[in-house]
Amino acid sequence: MQKKRLFIVSNRLPITIEQTENGVTSRPSSGGLVSAITGYLEKGGSESFSETFWAGVPGCTEKIWSVATGGIASAPYSYLPVFVNWKKYELYYNGFSNSVLWPLFHYFPSFVDYNTSYFDAWLEVNGIFAEQLAAKLRKDDIVWIQDYHLLPLAGLLRDHLPGLTIGFFLHIPFPSYELFRLIPKNWQRTILSGMLGADLVGFHTIDYALHFLASVEEVLQVEHDGQHMWWENRRVKTDAFPISIDFEKFHHAFDHPSVDEMRRRYLELKGTKKMIFSVDRLDYTKGVANRLKGYEAFISSYPEYRGNVIFVLVIVPSRDVIIKYAERKKIIDESVGNINSSRGDVVWQPIIYKYGHLSFDELVALYTTCDLALITPLRDGMNLVSKEFVASRKDGRGVLVLSEVAGAARELTEALLVNPNDAAEMAAAIKAGLEMSPEAQRERLTEMQDRIRTYNVYTWAADFFRELAVVKDAQLEFEIKFLDKVTKVELLDSYSKAGKRLLLLDYDGTLVPFARFPGAAAPDAVLLGILRALGENFLNELYIVSGRDSQTLEKWFDGIPVGLIAEHGAKVRHRDGDWETSTIAPSGDWRSKMEKIMQEYVEKCPHTFIERKDFSIAWHYRNADLVDGAVRARELYDDLMRPAGQMSLNVLNGHKVIEVRMRGINKGAAVGHILGRDNYEFVLCLGDDQTDEDMFKKLATREDAFTIKVGNEASFAKYNLHNPAMVQALLHTMASYAPARPLR
Ligand code: UDP
Ligand code: G6P
Repeated sequence: MQKKRLFIVSNRLPITIEQTENGVTSRPSSGGLVSAITGYLEKGGSESFSETFWAGVPGCTEKIWSVATGGIASAPYSYLPVFVNWKKYELYYNGFSNSVLWPLFHYFPSFVDYNTSYFDAWLEVNGIFAEQLAAKLRKDDIVWIQDYHLLPLAGLLRDHLPGLTIGFFLHIPFPSYELFRLIPKNWQRTILSGMLGADLVGFHTIDYALHFLASVEEVLQVEHDGQHMWWENRRVKTDAFPISIDFEKFHHAFDHPSVDEMRRRYLELKGTKKMIFSVDRLDYTKGVANRLKGYEAFISSYPEYRGNVIFVLVIVPSRDVIIKYAERKKIIDESVGNINSSRGDVVWQPIIYKYGHLSFDELVALYTTCDLALITPLRDGMNLVSKEFVASRKDGRGVLVLSEVAGAARELTEALLVNPNDAAEMAAAIKAGLEMSPEAQRERLTEMQDRIRTYNVYTWAADFFRELAVVKDAQLEFEIKFLDKVTKVELLDSYSKAGKRLLLLDYDGTLVPFARFPGAAAPDAVLLGILRALGENFLNELYIVSGRDSQTLEKWFDGIPVGLIAEHGAKVRHRDGDWETSTIAPSGDWRSKMEKIMQEYVEKCPHTFIERKDFSIAWHYRNADLVDGAVRARELYDDLMRPAGQMSLNVLNGHKVIEVRMRGINKGAAVGHILGRDNYEFVLCLGDDQTDEDMFKKLATREDAFTIKVGNEASFAKYNLHNPAMVQALLHTMASYAPARPLR
């Protein structure tokens, strides 16, 4: 298969250019996003693509960029710097991204700074990304958008290039709807509709994906099946892809001579003391102040460790112009100072504190020198530091104490898991960790390493791309083909030339729009006139193929020369015949059993009701509250499945209706019998819901059949028409055609 071009898009480029006293320098950008994507691309990920680009903001002017790039080491991708006016960028980055989205999505609602100028600038900067990218993109490229800064970008790009393949991955939690709804409604809509511009929306965990789906349902009133939803004629998928690290890179770094040399130096300085280590970006979500309380509780509760333990605390600078971050820095500085002065003495400093960036070698040397890594975020989408620590310990030594609320805690279950707010628990875990036997340390590390080795950053990204390709292929397969003028002419031409013609027409949602109650959807004189004209044409065989009961159909179509198929095929009445039943109702009290279950839902869910037919029973929730109805429908469906299975019944999830009917009855089987009755030269079949798919599937083997789905959803039908009015218009045209030749 021909390789495609890949465009990674993130707020930041993976390198940061800085103007210092010594001139222009560059260093890798900080944080999990850059670590993961560079890990994937450097591990050979970029070989799957014909070319790879990484677009993002370089954090410097165009002029400095052009000077700096000369000295940047080569990478398996090309940089696409996006230049944004500095003031706009501030509002977009420090403002909306990090003073609204970051605190809200990490469950710190009181830290959110509601400021409309932030939102406006954020949208504007996303627009700049979209324009600059659109100028470079071709329609068969793959775009992979990263993280919360760029939530609307997929939607904006799709406006430029509708057929583009777009993946989106969120590197932070997606909050529950209760939190998400705190921001203004137009912000909610922009965020969600922007994300739905992607074909695949990825999260770290299933919980985050479900939170997203719940918000989509509430805010955009779009239904989903737990994973997929329809948005602007595309079937969008959400899924969980727990991010990981380049295991081998960290594991083998243990033996690098430069790392080894650094480690020796650290081990010498550490001497016989135990060493605890942590590294995080400066962020209130990382729980550093709580961690310091836990450490203080440890030295005060276990005095035998005084003078015998050191805590190396590294904080990587991040977003420190934002007040909440600057405050955090102050709190940490003061807390470290207090602990060192009150708990330490002239020969022992309990905490060694560094505020700055670490090189890769320094980082691995510290991971592999320490006796215990203390990683205790208050909330973290994943947390890669904990995985890197585990992977680095090729020596099988060291203990991980990890917050139970970090996303990584789901995978690193052999760590000592703690509540980050419980100082006493943390203190006890530190003690247990420092006193753990070497065998137990190895055993726990091996288990965790085996897991990260298998599901590494390569598997993470490869999984994402595999799923993105599947989603895109399925979209193309299901692509909605509206019955355009050319096809309509073809259809009419074929109809007018055919000898015997078969017209199979679903009723509700196809010939007439849905009404609030089933009884209110009776055909009007116009529709009856069209059907009469079609039926009276001696070349035509016309059937109404409905889920309705036989009495209703008989009453409504009295005197019209059409065949009737009732209850999804359980009963058939040919044009001049009597009702025939194609099934025998199961013995026993199936109906009362099913009705009893449905009745509970009528009581639980206001405005729902039961419809009773000869061979089926249906619970309608068309008039119920949108969310309540959908939730109850799912529950009822599950409740009915087991007893229905035991009684040879099928449970159907229709258009705002859950129906139980005899197994083996479906419109497809009914249509099969009718097709066998004559040699039809023209077949037209129209339907709107799931039960009509059986007819479309049956007719898929007849290349010449015209199958049309009414509505905007994908289907087994060959074409779509928007609504019943368009169906009536088509049938009206057909009705006006005189028979081309007499019946043979
Ligand atoms: N890291 C960094 N610069 C440093 C030290 C560490 O970029 O000076 C890396 C670290 O190796 C890890 C990432 O930053 O890959 C932090 O990722 P994590 O998921 O733990 O947290 P995030 O910062 O993304 O919230
Ligand atoms: C987290 C975010 C990333 C971000 C990183 C560093 O990992 O999910 O999107 O790049 O932190 O933050 P910064 O604001 O310095 O880019």
